[in-house]
Amino acid sequence: MSWSSPGGPGRLAGDGAVVARAPAKVNVHLAVGPLRADGFHELRTVYLAVSLFDTVTVRPGDGLALTLTGEGAAGAGADAVPTDRRNLVWRAAELLAERAGVPADATIAVDKSIPAAAGLAGGSADAAAALVALDALWGTHATRGELAALAAQLGSDVPFSLQGGVALGSGRGEQLSPVLARRRWDWVLGIAGEGLSTPAVYAELDRLRAAGRLPDGSDLDSPEPVIAALRSGPVPALAAALANDLQAPAVSLRPALRRALRAATDAGAQASLVSGSGPTVAALAEDEEDAVRLAAVLAGEGVYRTVRAVYGPVPGARLVG
Ligand code: C5P
Repeated sequence: MSWSSPGGPGRLAGDGAVVARAPAKVNVHLAVGPLRADGFHELRTVYLAVSLFDTVTVRPGDGLALTLTGEGAAGAGADAVPTDRRNLVWRAAELLAERAGVPADATIAVDKSIPAAAGLAGGSADAAAALVALDALWGTHATRGELAALAAQLGSDVPFSLQGGVALGSGRGEQLSPVLARRRWDWVLGIAGEGLSTPAVYAELDRLRAAGRLPDGSDLDSPEPVIAALRSGPVPALAAALANDLQAPAVSLRPALRRALRAATDAGAQASLVSGSGPTVAALAEDEEDAVRLAAVLAGEGVYRTVRAVYGPVPGARLVG
């Protein structure tokens, strides 16, 4: 890795703050292979970055300090996000500092719109935004490739949160290749009151497979139909191609998801699927106007804690301001 010597801060606001934001994601295709020896599953997934963003503000500090506002902040119950070393942002800061050979000194404020434990890669978005913001604050001048390598060490979805757009993910999800999307896709996210643990959903998939209740995953479904639909498709083509192997185990752990998925299609969504490991429901709309209508209908039904109309693709982690 070729780190330039710290050359002073990147982009600073008046009080020395650097601000970055990163998007949530929906997996429009998620095929899960068998459990690997390293505890991860081999994936073929198509990620789509959507317009729900967390914002990370970093300032000069003495040691690391982390605060959190918005979704998942203290008081939000079981899904409350830790603000110590267990938080991926903290680990991102330590990793960047260590690799760049600078002291890990920063005061970090995360303002969350992406709910935690929702299948939307909220923690990964925070880590990706933190890498970008701290790289500017510390003047470490990492290349995108160097940041991507750090991102892959932090979590399977962090490289995508950094890159954004649309991408095919393989390996455990961290190996990315770009996918072309010619248009914007509008969605409504139905967000549940209580999160689901990603490892628990993967473990439930393994359990259902071992019991013979699901195919064993040795044949990974091809992402090609989804990729073709994203490239050139009318909305019904993408609707027909959406697939997620984690949906069955998420529904098994959270039977209310069945009703949440049906509520979206009953309200006129083109299709609905569980986002990642859930429990967020991603409902595909015809266009922006349809998404606004759908969001209003679904907000009135009381099936979800909250609903958000979003679109994708959007860029990955970026400095703002
Ligand atoms: O990479 P990340 O820390 O986000 O993964 C969280 C957990 O999700 C892992 O510890 C593992 O249990 C599960 N996982 C998996 N296969 C993947 C990605 C995640 O089993 N490809």
